[in-house]
Amino acid sequence: MAKINRIGILTSGGDSPGMNACIRAIVRTAIYHGVKVTGIIRGYAGLINGDMIEMDVGSVSNIIQRGGTILKTARSEEFKTQEGRAKAYENIKKWEIDALITIGGDGTYRGASDLNREYGVPIIGIPGTIDNDIYGTDYTIGYDTAINIALDAVDRIRDTAASHDRIFFVEVMGRNSGFIALDVGVAGGAEAILVPETITDVDKLCDTLVKGRKRGKHSSIVIVAEGDETGNSYEIAQKVKDRTGFDYRVTILGHIQRGGSPTARDRILASKLGLSAVEFLIDGVSNVMIGEINGEVVTTKLEMIWSNKKEIDTRLCRLAEILSI
Ligand code: F6P
Repeated sequence: MAKINRIGILTSGGDSPGMNACIRAIVRTAIYHGVKVTGIIRGYAGLINGDMIEMDVGSVSNIIQRGGTILKTARSEEFKTQEGRAKAYENIKKWEIDALITIGGDGTYRGASDLNREYGVPIIGIPGTIDNDIYGTDYTIGYDTAINIALDAVDRIRDTAASHDRIFFVEVMGRNSGFIALDVGVAGGAEAILVPETITDVDKLCDTLVKGRKRGKHSSIVIVAEGDETGNSYEIAQKVKDRTGFDYRVTILGHIQRGGSPTARDRILASKLGLSAVEFLIDGVSNVMIGEINGEVVTTKLEMIWSNKKEIDTRLCRLAEILSI
């Protein structure tokens, strides 16, 4: 087992609140164990361009409470090519990096895995995305913050919706998944929740809203996941208006869900996973993602992450339906 003297860390894909807490944990755990750390700026693009910095204990001071990522992030097309990865490897050699820790979504690990296959660089992935759509962990870093931001927005919208007797369609993030929509919908008491994992029946949605009106409910909140297969929230809202005549407004929460100070839960998860990633690498474990399942830190082989789909909790769909009668 080759000794790890230096670890490189990068954040890649969409940023998520808690990434900084994770970077802090990695840097401090590594230094605690006598391992040096190189910070790679803008994900794989920085690895290709040699945009890298030496990190010490002080370089991660006062960041645990900050959203975003101090290492910046990017989605690199060049790294998907063999030429791009060859350039990245040159910089890994130049900086004498023995192993990489990559924080991001599953696209992040695919790139890392290619680098491992071609050049043997040990890799550990840490799940950082607000979408929570990563197999091998109950929660991803940033998810808890994102749902709380979205929930706060929904609570505010409910006040104005009630005052004007309107239906609000609130679109939350989740390109391919409904985790955010489902949790925000349940916690926000939404009348309906539309997610890409289930087929949206617009007639049924209209029936629910009409039934609500009949029992004296004059305003409603419909949560729409960005990736819902029916189309975007404006299209869905218009279809409902065409069939029911109900006045509506659409609010797209967008990137507001990705910013701001991470919740305690995200900071703790990020710190745990960051510490474990370093200690696993030192112990010779690599090519895995570190996650948390039922409160325990677990490892899952990287290829398992993208060959398995994390399912939403369909019991929550049923609960939301029953409670919105
Ligand atoms: O994957 C995280 C995410 O926030 C998705 O929910 C969203 O669809 C996407 O990133 C937005 O990406 P970008 O910031 O590149 O527009």
